[in-house]
Amino acid sequence: MAKPKKRYVCTECGSVASRWQGQCADCSEWNTLVEEAPETKFAAAHNLSSGGRAIRFESLDAPTAPLARRSTGIAEFDRALGGGLVPGSAILMGGEPGIGKSTLLLQAAASIAKAGGDVVYVSGEEATGQVRMRAGRLGVADANLRLASATSVRDILTTLGNGTPPDLLVVDSIQTMHSDMIEGAPGTVSQVRASAFELIRFAKETGTCLVLVGHVTKDGNIAGPRVLEHMVDTVMSFEGERSHQYRILRSLKNRFGAVDEIGVFAMEGHGLAEVSNPSTLFLSGRDEPIAGSAVFPALEGTRPVLVEIQALIVRLQSGATPRRAVVGWDSGRLAMLLAVLEARCGLSFSTAEVYLNVAGGYRLSDPAADLAVAAALISALADKPLAKDAIWFGELSLSGEVRPVAHSSLRQREAAKLGFARAFGPADGGQDVKGLRYAGIGGVTSLVDRLLAST
Ligand code: TYD
Ligand code: MG
Repeated sequence: MAKPKKRYVCTECGSVASRWQGQCADCSEWNTLVEEAPETKFAAAHNLSSGGRAIRFESLDAPTAPLARRSTGIAEFDRALGGGLVPGSAILMGGEPGIGKSTLLLQAAASIAKAGGDVVYVSGEEATGQVRMRAGRLGVADANLRLASATSVRDILTTLGNGTPPDLLVVDSIQTMHSDMIEGAPGTVSQVRASAFELIRFAKETGTCLVLVGHVTKDGNIAGPRVLEHMVDTVMSFEGERSHQYRILRSLKNRFGAVDEIGVFAMEGHGLAEVSNPSTLFLSGRDEPIAGSAVFPALEGTRPVLVEIQALIVRLQSGATPRRAVVGWDSGRLAMLLAVLEARCGLSFSTAEVYLNVAGGYRLSDPAADLAVAAALISALADKPLAKDAIWFGELSLSGEVRPVAHSSLRQREAAKLGFARAFGPADGGQDVKGLRYAGIGGVTSLVDRLLAST
């Protein structure tokens, strides 16, 4: 019999190559090809069009039972999930090491157990003693849940298959799990995929809600095969800067809810505390007005979050190439804004270093931040603080116009609640709300005129 051919699978995009290469031919990522078990070969004359069972078709409007969701007991977690855990669904929770995944899941597991749910918590990373110690610190050691330290998928499924299936199964982490159905060390693409497949099948068959913890690579993707993200119903990402206190739980994919809702937490001495009013958290520490600081009402799903954008401009004396550094925003977008300000308003940044920071380590993806960034840059360049009671929002086009953005009144109402009195936005994209005066800005030139004229 011929030796089975080796195959190599890209951990980023899942494409298959017949020999190892340093760079994936499809997605151009480096060092992502890993060896995998050989492809299954079928007999030459296989025919799939007979021998199967007939499948039953249904109509779209047939009655369906509504989703019975189970609350995690943590409102911010429920919100990010789109209303709670769905039985029989599989959730992948990604995040950097030390960000708080195990903490969040242990808190949720304990609160579900306290509410009468049957919870199994399997840790492949920590000994039961360590988990117990964390539970003690979180003040949930009295929760009645089944805790185990195990890495064999067969052991886990054999044990669970012999009793009543739990309501929630937490597996921390999928990279430590091992399936004896195939070869390879835990954490390899084929192991992660096979282990996840078996665990997800158990969840679907029994109605258990499965939460898999997934490690992320240094560029923020969930380690292991991309297919993992396709196999689960929901992909969540737990984000934040470790040096900062707060954490954001985001859903990147959700078969049972919207993907743009976020949950906000603060990591404290006794675990994760819910932050139901995030704006106060991100704006804290703003006392004296300083040049280069602008407040932007970002929108996360249906939730407005006020964040501070800080710009710093350092004029260079020598002819060295100036640096541009961005934390929390897209560097390509910053380059574009600088180009618009140079081309449309004649401002010069070419001999200056530009630093942009979204305070608190918050990561902005909302395009409506353009105007606030532009205001911060101009204010830093002119060394003139912006009005302390003002917020800025709007998208900038390459021609320098300020474009309307979605949900301006929601953004303004949040700002008014927090004591802001003025909003600057697109000329035809907003109006006064209670306690907040709105002023439209047509384009970057009028923005520059306004900022340089007033203080
Ligand atoms: P952990 O949940 O272990 O992170 P992950 O599972 O994502 O790797 O959280 C680890 C960090 O959280 C650790 O550095 C200590 C910190 N922490 C607190 O600040 N307070 C707490 O109550 C707990 C349990 C952890
Ligand atoms: Mg952990």
